[in-house]
Amino acid sequence: CTSAGDSKTVVIGLAADSGCGKSTFMRRLTSVFGGAAEPPKGGNPDSNTLISDTTTVICLDDYHSLDRTGRKQKGVTALDPRANDFDLMYEQVKALKDGIPVDKPIYNHVSGLLDPPELIKPPKILVIEGLHPMFDSRVRDLLDFSIYLDISNEVKFAWKIQRDMAERGHSLESIKASIEARKPDFDAYIDPQKQYADAVIEVLPTQLIPDDNEGKILRVRLIMKEGVEFFNPVYLFDEGSTISWIPCGRKLTCSYPGIKFFYGPDTYFGHEVSVLEMDGQFDRLDELIYVESHLSNISTKFYGEVTQQMLKHADFPGSSNGTGLFQTIVGLKIRDLYEQLISTTAKTPVEATKA
Ligand code: ADP
Ligand code: G6P
Repeated sequence: CTSAGDSKTVVIGLAADSGCGKSTFMRRLTSVFGGAAEPPKGGNPDSNTLISDTTTVICLDDYHSLDRTGRKQKGVTALDPRANDFDLMYEQVKALKDGIPVDKPIYNHVSGLLDPPELIKPPKILVIEGLHPMFDSRVRDLLDFSIYLDISNEVKFAWKIQRDMAERGHSLESIKASIEARKPDFDAYIDPQKQYADAVIEVLPTQLIPDDNEGKILRVRLIMKEGVEFFNPVYLFDEGSTISWIPCGRKLTCSYPGIKFFYGPDTYFGHEVSVLEMDGQFDRLDELIYVESHLSNISTKFYGEVTQQMLKHADFPGSSNGTGLFQTIVGLKIRDLYEQLISTTAKTPVEATKA
């Protein structure tokens, strides 16, 4: 006899502003789980959902309660909680976690309207990604693990210019204006969620070049909360020590401005955390194996798995720097967490008979 509870869905939350690399992160994550996630077959072509054998990624924009016109009329942005239906988000994530399929709405990014719902079946791993996965405390409590992508204003600006100016023909002024217009709501409703995240990937301008404002070379920090069940933070050389490491030299090719790692304990919003930091970028991705061999607790299944994943997706944005490296490592940590969670759920009935 099987009950819904036997096939527990593990729920992961991924929060970030739009255009901050969530889709890229999701592609790295689903690849670690063994298969690329695709839009649902035969469904609405404007669906935001991605499905693989193990993982379903839903975009929380689907819980917009106000469509584009509604937001305009009320003068609220998509970041404002009043434009989002947290009751429905909670009910549906809870149902999926309990093994019950749901009819989830679809927010159509092309038309700006809410389309008829699509059927979502409970997957092994459910990722809820978007602006507010940790905003509502009921939804937050359903998360088995949460991640916040914290892209600093300078870097966000550089990425937006690259995408909206180079690829979409927007003017510099209009990009500046749209970032400024979003900022108050971003600061009020999105940014505060990082205090709840189990892992934060912080992306900052490099410190290796004085007064750099190009936003090409990045300093990336992986902030990992201590004491999270089934999650052991990654460390460099010696757990708990404070270490600064410049690996450039005989084993690693580094052109200007080089690469610098840092590892150590810290506090983040009153929590104890471990921080692993990488400033700079790799010249040769295959040499990443040298760095990988000095990291511990990375939850790989074989020697070199991080490097292999990075090489496999060398064309994804961020592959030569800490964004790609840390996204890959967080993907491996999530696989590990999932496997541990599943094995404890599977053991429970046996232990219950023993008792
Ligand atoms: P989201 O899903 O959050 O909207 P995407 O993953 O689609 O974000 O990324 C949006 C854009 O941001 C990309 O097309 C790219 O220009 C830029 N970008 C994202 N991640 C990185 C990165 N790690 N390094 C450089 N640029 C990036
Ligand atoms: C989605 C995105 C938001 C974006 C919005 C566009 O909801 O997640 O980040 O702002 O679409 O809204 P608009 O009101 O410009 O159509």
